[in-house]
Amino acid sequence: MSVAALIVAAGKGERAGGGLPKQFAMLGDKSVLLHALDAFASHRGIAETIIVVASGQIELASAAVGPRPSVRIVEGGAERQDSVFAGLACVTQPSVLIHDAARPFLSHDVIDRLIAALADHDGAVPVLPVVDTLAFDAGALGDAVERSRLVRVQTPQAFRTDAIMTAHRQWQSSAATDDAQMARAAGFSVALVAGDPALEKITHPADFARAEQHLGALMISRTGMGYDVHRLAENEELWLCGIQVPHSKGLAGHSDADVALHALVDALLGAIAEGDIGSHFPPSDPQWRGAASARFVEHVRDLVTAKGGIIDHVDLTLICEAPKIGPHRDAMRARVADMLRISKGSVSIKATTTERLGFAGRGEGIAAQAVATVRMRRQ
Ligand code: CTP
Ligand code: MG
Repeated sequence: MSVAALIVAAGKGERAGGGLPKQFAMLGDKSVLLHALDAFASHRGIAETIIVVASGQIELASAAVGPRPSVRIVEGGAERQDSVFAGLACVTQPSVLIHDAARPFLSHDVIDRLIAALADHDGAVPVLPVVDTLAFDAGALGDAVERSRLVRVQTPQAFRTDAIMTAHRQWQSSAATDDAQMARAAGFSVALVAGDPALEKITHPADFARAEQHLGALMISRTGMGYDVHRLAENEELWLCGIQVPHSKGLAGHSDADVALHALVDALLGAIAEGDIGSHFPPSDPQWRGAASARFVEHVRDLVTAKGGIIDHVDLTLICEAPKIGPHRDAMRARVADMLRISKGSVSIKATTTERLGFAGRGEGIAAQAVATVRMRRQ
């Protein structure tokens, strides 16, 4: 591990508009900046990361990043190159990858290609071919530009740290749009490696919609199922789907014994592969003793959200001879939708008997099955 990552995030994001500078705007479940940071943080070759932010934004950035021992946040300058130079002063590794925070979708493949190219070059940049016809704008259509000799240059850009420091110190011209042009001007060799269309920079408002679409395409649907049974007993209240249902008997068991919500909790935990109801809410834990089952559901809903999951749909089946579920279905759907913070249209509640067969048929207990569909990033 001898490579540093330097993320410049000190721009104003004027072209992108919006309340916050674009690097702090949310994209899916985290800020644009965090997408870029996590790409580096999860790569084994990166020893340290320096994030450069505008003056007065260190607190905002620290809150967005959270406590991370290998990350330093420093203040940048008026132009991108000033921000890069401020960050370079903090680099302690012999090589550095300089990256725009505004390019959230950085793959490990690109990082690997850049690091490999540094073996025999002073620097390396990811590039893409130009596919559109290029021409001068002369009011009307001007001369076409020979595109086969052109490339589009992206970030991250990799350099030997001493080389890029020298290049920055020697640069005399006006503002540079990237670091590779400074390295070349100082006589250093810069290799080309294959870039990635997903690395496109967020520059204008419409780029956020494109980025959200890209994220959406990375989400997959996961299905979890749950099953639970509780015994019917005299002198107990009957709670089903968070609704108290009038009946001659009620369900006995842990907390309010809401068999439907217990099945739902297991279905949601199944969808995110996080164990089962017993492992999260052991009857021995005083925190949950006697708690309404709705609290279990809400806790698990928050677990799903914390993993970046979106609950798309739940389907519950109650298996009992009595009471009749139909008259309560609407209230149950509304209550479950409320607990999960999803629309009532995404909550299905069904009921069936077992033709008087088995424990449910004899009225000894009630069983419930649940299926939950959750969208989240492939793990
Ligand atoms: N950047 C920086 N310091 C500056 C200017 C830009 O660190 N003084 C960073 C931006 O935060 C961004 C990257 O350089 O991650 C690329 O710049 P650009 O896309 O131009 O971003 P902004 O300057 O923020 O946007 P705009 O030009 O629309 O204001
Ligand atoms: Mg700019």
